[in-house]
Amino acid sequence: MVYLSTASSLLAALIFACAIHTGEPYFYNGIKSGLEPDLKHSLFLDRIGQCRWQRDLTVFLADMRIAQQNNTHYVVSGVLRVRRNITQPTTATVSIEICQNATHCRPFVDPPVAVGDLCRFLCEQRNSSLGEVLGHSVPALDCPLREGVYRINDALVDYKPFRYFSPHVSKLWRIDLVGESDRRRVFCVRIELFVYSWEDMLPRY
Ligand SMILES: *[C@@H]1O[C@H](CO)[C@@H](O)[C@H](O)[C@H]1NC(C)=O
Ligand SMILES: *[C@@H]1O[C@H](CO)[C@@H](O)[C@H](O)[C@H]1NC(C)=O
Ligand SMILES: *[C@@H]1O[C@H](CO)[C@@H](O)[C@H](O)[C@H]1NC(C)=O
Ligand SMILES: *[C@@H]1O[C@H](CO)[C@@H](O)[C@H](O)[C@H]1NC(C)=O
Repeated sequence: MVYLSTASSLLAALIFACAIHTGEPYFYNGIKSGLEPDLKHSLFLDRIGQCRWQRDLTVFLADMRIAQQNNTHYVVSGVLRVRRNITQPTTATVSIEICQNATHCRPFVDPPVAVGDLCRFLCEQRNSSLGEVLGHSVPALDCPLREGVYRINDALVDYKPFRYFSPHVSKLWRIDLVGESDRRRVFCVRIELFVYSWEDMLPRY
């Protein structure tokens, strides 16, 4: 179940991070990505932010600022607003779509993958990429989530959560992280990314 673990690590990496604008990229060719040992793909994180059609949920993640640090790491920063205390358990699902363009996508993993109780999941992921991102929150993000404004400052993200996203399957991918608590949707975060193989990036004559 490669996809299941992919979805989990994605969730881990990015659940609360959000909204990406490629800042002033120092390198214009994305970060190295793919399966080790040959990191032959280039990953461009395009956006991490609230699902655009769901801006009124309990949790709101403004589009994160995404800047490329070097050819292996991005740095992401953003603001997460929690509008009320979430007292009931929150369960999360991850769905992954592959897209031809911005409007034509289809599910890659269907149905969405359930990751179960979010707090337990986050706790187990403390040392993962997600843990890294959330570890940069001020104040600290702890379960149960309390009303407040959380700032994620300069969290490093490398290719690892995205390593299974192959350009040979699709160049444009979309990941939706959705959380429900007490049978209501409380968050919806979308991650959009591009992956290219080096061959794709060579000029064509
Ligand atoms: C890229 O930046 C990260 C974080 O500062 C650092 O850990 C890593 O070693 C750097 N990679 C290269 C190739 O310089
Ligand atoms: C939210 O939780 C905090 C900490 O437990 C508490 O102090 C606050 O009163 C709660 N807010 C509401 C509206 O219940
Ligand atoms: C997206 O791709 C579909 C199918 O190829 C095409 O019909 C549609 O016009 C495209 N949309 C845009 C915005 O390019
Ligand atoms: C995370 O790493 C620390 C230090 O290496 C370790 O003590 C802790 O048990 C780890 N936590 C998890 C959940 O793996």
